[in-house]
Amino acid sequence: MTITDTLNRPLRDLRISVTDRCNFRCVYCMPKEIFGPDYAYLPRAQVLTFEEITRLARIFTYHGVKKIRLTGGEPLVRKDLHLLIAQLSQISNLDLTLTTNGALLARNAQALKDAGLNRVSVSLDSLDNEVFKAMNDVDFPVEKVLEGMEAAQEVGLEPIKVNMVVKRGVNESSILPMAHYFREKGYILRFIEYMDVGHTNGWRTDDVVSLKEIVDTISAELPLEPLDPNYKGEVAERWKYKDGSGEIGIISSVTQPFCSTCNRARLSAEGKLYTCLFAIKGHDLKTLVRSEATDEEISNEIARIWGKRTDRYSELRSENTIDLPKVEMSHIGG
Ligand code: GTP
Ligand code: 5AD
Ligand code: SF4
Ligand code: SF4
Repeated sequence: MTITDTLNRPLRDLRISVTDRCNFRCVYCMPKEIFGPDYAYLPRAQVLTFEEITRLARIFTYHGVKKIRLTGGEPLVRKDLHLLIAQLSQISNLDLTLTTNGALLARNAQALKDAGLNRVSVSLDSLDNEVFKAMNDVDFPVEKVLEGMEAAQEVGLEPIKVNMVVKRGVNESSILPMAHYFREKGYILRFIEYMDVGHTNGWRTDDVVSLKEIVDTISAELPLEPLDPNYKGEVAERWKYKDGSGEIGIISSVTQPFCSTCNRARLSAEGKLYTCLFAIKGHDLKTLVRSEATDEEISNEIARIWGKRTDRYSELRSENTIDLPKVEMSHIGG
């Protein structure tokens, strides 16, 4: 049964974080000063098992979820992730996908495809090794991420989307080289406005490169025109190259918020349900899943939480909201 929240938004898209760990330390997400050797990650017993995740996922589909995206931290650092994909792919009528930093993609692509994954989105912030290494902060080279994308393409995990977070003074100079390269490759490049997720990245409005600036920069060399969305509630605004050579997307959560059509729920690795990327707190589903509760009782609880939802953080963002205590990106997976 389709459920709607207080702003009449349905629940369509479920993002499941399978781990809060990552093999990168992107400066805008897991800065080393905070996510150092002593950082307290979730203990294993607190992390949902594959069976628990699959049970919850199935219940979410009763409420209209049509797409499941696995996230992290970095989802591929979770051992045997393909076994989870195999379980989830038994649920019918689902677009099953994954957002990864690509580091472990080349060696996992075939197993993921065989298990039933439909497609992948790969994060890459620059083609320039110096810039990319300064952003991932673990000295990880661009070539390995590109190899991961190639492997994904070879096994048919398509369409491949590439996510680039743009941070002023750090990687704006990579916008055009990325556009040229991925236009040639035929992958869909999406530029993400840098967001004030969590409270460890020291976000400032000045760090944001806006949709308008990105479109102007690219159009100066490769003229663009807007495209209609693929579906209602699509996060990325689509643009096509006027010469017909492909499309890009821009995720402009800061300068053009899209809360009015937001149909996404997020489940953290420890089984908390967040109804917004910028939520202060989640709703504990793990205790319920580990109790004697029936599917119907869990289903009712999800409907109750969604029915009360009022979130529209990006529409309300201001100087006053920056310092609110928010959940970290590495817990909620973007
Ligand atoms: P597609 O199914 O390919 O359209 O995927 P998607 O764009 O929903 O997923 P992806 O993980 O690639 O999203 C890209 C980025 O957009 C995320 O990592 C977030 O940074 C941002 N994003 C996604 N959903 C939301 C949202 O609900 N609110 C905000 N503010 N940002 C979001
Ligand atoms: N602002 C925008 N995007 C971010 N991501 C991580 N942190 C931020 C942020 N502060 C992106 C990652 C990845 C996706 C999961 O979210 O680079 O593409
Ligand atoms: Fe890891 Fe992704 Fe965060 Fe970078 S943005 S630290 S790859 S979870
Ligand atoms: Fe949805 Fe919250 Fe993002 Fe708005 S800020 S689009 S409500 S997740």
